[in-house]
Amino acid sequence: MTTLKGLVLAGGTGTRLRPITHTSAKQLVPLANKPILFYALESLAEAGVVEVGMIVGETRKEVMAAVGDGSDFGLKVTYIPQEQPLGLAHCVMIAKEFLGDSPFVMFLGDNLIKDGIVEFANSFREREPGVCAEILLARVPDPHRFGVAILDDDGHVKGLVEKPKVPPSDLALVGVYFFDTSVHKAVESIMPSARGELEITDAIQYLIDSGARVSSKQISGYWKDLGQPEALLEGNRLVLEDIEANTMGVVDELSVVEGRVIIEKGATILRSRLRGPAIIGRGSVLKDCFIGPFTSIGEDCLIEATEIENSILLAGTTVDGIQSLEGSVLGKQVTVRRRQARPIANRLVVGDHSIVEIA
Ligand code: DAU
Repeated sequence: MTTLKGLVLAGGTGTRLRPITHTSAKQLVPLANKPILFYALESLAEAGVVEVGMIVGETRKEVMAAVGDGSDFGLKVTYIPQEQPLGLAHCVMIAKEFLGDSPFVMFLGDNLIKDGIVEFANSFREREPGVCAEILLARVPDPHRFGVAILDDDGHVKGLVEKPKVPPSDLALVGVYFFDTSVHKAVESIMPSARGELEITDAIQYLIDSGARVSSKQISGYWKDLGQPEALLEGNRLVLEDIEANTMGVVDELSVVEGRVIIEKGATILRSRLRGPAIIGRGSVLKDCFIGPFTSIGEDCLIEATEIENSILLAGTTVDGIQSLEGSVLGKQVTVRRRQARPIANRLVVGDHSIVEIA
């Protein structure tokens, strides 16, 4: 099997998932209690990649603490610091020494490919002569937010445009790209775009214009963080759709677990009804609750006398006496509780960029 190296992009400042990533890297926001970035690392390992270069920026400390040397994923991770987010092609440039003369797969750390990349890695390994890159495409309703591809009749890429106002197709470039060494010359030959970045789309266009062939594959089950809580809930649902039931924590006799629910080690469920797909994090305690489908409760949460559906709660959050929460995203160490003291008014202490909707 041809060795493929991995290049994972976990730098950048980007648009923050406010208020959830005011303080942390967007690649570490959890879907079903696991950072988005970890799904990328698992997909790479599954596709037979071992050596991974990881681009890190402002949030490098946090990313490095979470990923370590990569051995938890069966990977060997080398960190490549990027002083400023100068573009996806700039990432390839600064990774040149790490990549050497190996073909590689570049994976954007805020993208999720539900069914992994094994099939695409293998098809790139067995590519026809003359093919120097392979890109993945997904049909999306909002192509103007992405790089967009134009294909010829054989499915080869004719052209690419980055975030076009008037998209020529609905085929968005997914954040996984396969390259051979010819990309190194391409990234050195392009100029920064109007947004001041060295665009990987321009580098791929350079390859096409110089006569190389770029193949493409279409995928489904694609998700990318689009900086909105609703998008985060969508990603959470996408991942929860595929989980298998597993009870590692304690469920008392008065509780009912329906469907596929993961109850992590050290979680305690008392007098509650859980309806999957859902996940309850390590060390969390639930008393007299209903937890409905498509809900992820992080580690060490305390939920009492509350009903929650289609929501994400990050670690250390407390919810007490709330009749129903739906479509909610609560950050770390948040407290939402019924007010006991008079006057019974809504009392809010909410950080910047938060959204509170009261029924
Ligand atoms: O997600 C798919 C899209 O990704 C493609 O459709 C576009 O063609 C491609 O340009 C890219 O667009 P974005 O503008 O959404 O990329 P973003 O700036 O969000 O960066 C993607 C990831 O790469 C993110 O995890 C941050 C990281 N990054 C980004 C830049 C610009 C870096 O590590 N360094 C950088 O310099």
